[in-house]
Amino acid sequence: MTILVTGGAGFIGSNFVYDWLADRDEAVVNLDLLTYAGNRWNLNGLLDEPKHVFIHGSIGDAGLISSLLDQYRPRAIINFAAESHVDRSIAGPAQFITTNIIDLFQLLECVRSYTKQLGESNRDAFRFLQVSTDEVYGSLGADEPAFSETRRFEPNSPYSASKAAGDHLVRAWHHTYGINVLTTNCSNNYGPFQFPEKLIPLIISNALSGKNLPVYGDGKQVRDWLYVGDHCSAIIRVLDEGIPGKTYNIGGQCEKENIDVVRTLCQLLDELQPRSDGRSYAEQISFVKDRPGHDRRYAVDTTRVEAEIGWRPSETFESGLRKTVDWYLKNANWLDHVRSGAYREWIDAQYGAAK
Ligand code: NAD
Ligand code: DAU
Repeated sequence: MTILVTGGAGFIGSNFVYDWLADRDEAVVNLDLLTYAGNRWNLNGLLDEPKHVFIHGSIGDAGLISSLLDQYRPRAIINFAAESHVDRSIAGPAQFITTNIIDLFQLLECVRSYTKQLGESNRDAFRFLQVSTDEVYGSLGADEPAFSETRRFEPNSPYSASKAAGDHLVRAWHHTYGINVLTTNCSNNYGPFQFPEKLIPLIISNALSGKNLPVYGDGKQVRDWLYVGDHCSAIIRVLDEGIPGKTYNIGGQCEKENIDVVRTLCQLLDELQPRSDGRSYAEQISFVKDRPGHDRRYAVDTTRVEAEIGWRPSETFESGLRKTVDWYLKNANWLDHVRSGAYREWIDAQYGAAK
């Protein structure tokens, strides 16, 4: 049997493919467009893995998707493919509408044709799992309860609005066409292979390069952090045991203010790779202009996935962050490789050329 993973050269997708192949006999067909965020280097550890097939292409290419579905007959699709960075969605929303809505629509239409041709038992067994975000629910006040699956959608950024639209499409393809879909809405991930435009790898990368550590606004925005391996284990559990048509919130029950995350990273770096002048990396922290429409707080209520699926995270923030910093220190080549020309253009545009 085979599964089709889309976006499997990105951060969470590549972690998922490694975890899946370490644990299962089922082959993975991995389709990725290799945008700036997708990287064949992330998959170098699979060059000799016969159960892994990499295909370069888009979920929006209906001809390609239909031929892949005909050829490989996957029993499940896990869709990680997306534009995923909020700041980029603010600077240029168009690509987010294309990828997260229109390309997803094309993928769903191909799945609809494919599942029509399956015999009844294969059609019943087929699953389409949409990897989504807690950001579809909007922003929480300091005392509001965490997001449950029944909270209404109130997306605030072009990114979260495009993901919310995608979630609605997936839901509609279940209710109207009977496709067995599952949706997971997860909080902020961190871990190996995360592109250094997101907070945690950006801070590690800037700290080691002697650059400013940019903290937006007052730094008191709250995010709920989850180690990427725990997100992947939740996706696998939901794929195995989730009820088609249902959505599952996933999170670490680990709310942290951004400034505390940045200070903790500085402490870890002070311990693991001290600055040559003996001073703390915390001296590089710099408060900068806030993100427009910046969501104040995310927190995820994981009661459903815990009670119905029995999933729980295995890393604490302390253990996961130490593993992550350690990985970036040991993989300086990877960091150099992804900080290419296109990366520098983004950093200059977002933070100013001097940073
Ligand atoms: P990422 O940006 O690191 O990776 C996205 C991948 O999708 C890249 O490899 C890219 O090349 C690929 N891609 C983009 N457009 C494509 C297309 N049209 N066809 C095929 N491949 C395409 O993102 P990530 O952080 O790994 O996130 C993966 C998914 O998880 C996204 O859907 C995101 O919304 C969701 N998510 C992310 C987080 C997080 O904290 N990173 C949390 C919750 C949910
Ligand atoms: O909540 C899940 C979401 O988490 C995912 O759906 C997104 O794909 C993922 O990118 C992430 O979104 P955020 O916007 O929360 O992540 P980011 O790492 O960009 O920012 C985390 C917090 O840190 C946020 O409050 C903004 C702040 N920040 C970020 C950057 C890049 C800074 O203060 N400085 C920075 O330079």
